[in-house]
Parts: sequence; structure tokens; C-alpha cells
Amino acid sequence: MRVPAEDSGYDTDIAVVHAEEGGFFALDDECSHEAVSLSDGFVEEQTLECPMHASAFCLRTGVPETPPAMKPVKTHRVSVEEDNLVLYPGTPFSEE
Ligand code: FES
Repeated sequence: MRVPAEDSGYDTDIAVVHAEEGGFFALDDECSHEAVSLSDGFVEEQTLECPMHASAFCLRTGVPETPPAMKPVKTHRVSVEEDNLVLYPGTPFSEE
């Protein structure tokens, strides 16, 4: 899902996804290759694949594992707290 910047108070929209193996992850919504929304992409194992040219961004680091994107996107911490999904915009993902 896309969390619009006006809702989160962060600089940019954020893509929040559920990994196939479990857990929630959040990345900057805009692909680092072109202005395409990653929340329109596909979760594939531990990556989020861009819907335009299929660069696959690591859910934990934001680093593209396949071209053409070369630059990482930022990650954001997201956690489940008392049955609520809580997003921490600007706080990078870290293993808890
Ligand atoms: S726009 Fe995302 S890989 Fe090209």
C-alpha cells in the first residue's frame, strides 16, 4: 500500500508491503530509476520489484539487486503494535 506524504508527514510517499515469508517492510515509494510508484510493484521473496523495468529492491536495505536501477531507496521502520501497523517515517529498517 502507498502511504501518501501528506498522511505520514514525511517528505515523500512510502510503500508498505508484506513479505511473502512474513513481516512488514517500508521503502520510499518512488523508484530510484524513474518516477514510478514501487507500491504498484510486486513482492518477490525479500524484494520489491518495480512495475516498470523490474529492478528488485531489497526490503531490508533498499538496495537494488537487479538493474537498471543503481541507487538504493530509503527504508523505514514499520512494526505491528497491539494489532496496529505503525510506520516510523525516516527511521531506517533494523532487525529487532
Ligand atoms: S522505473 Fe523502476 S526500474 Fe526503471
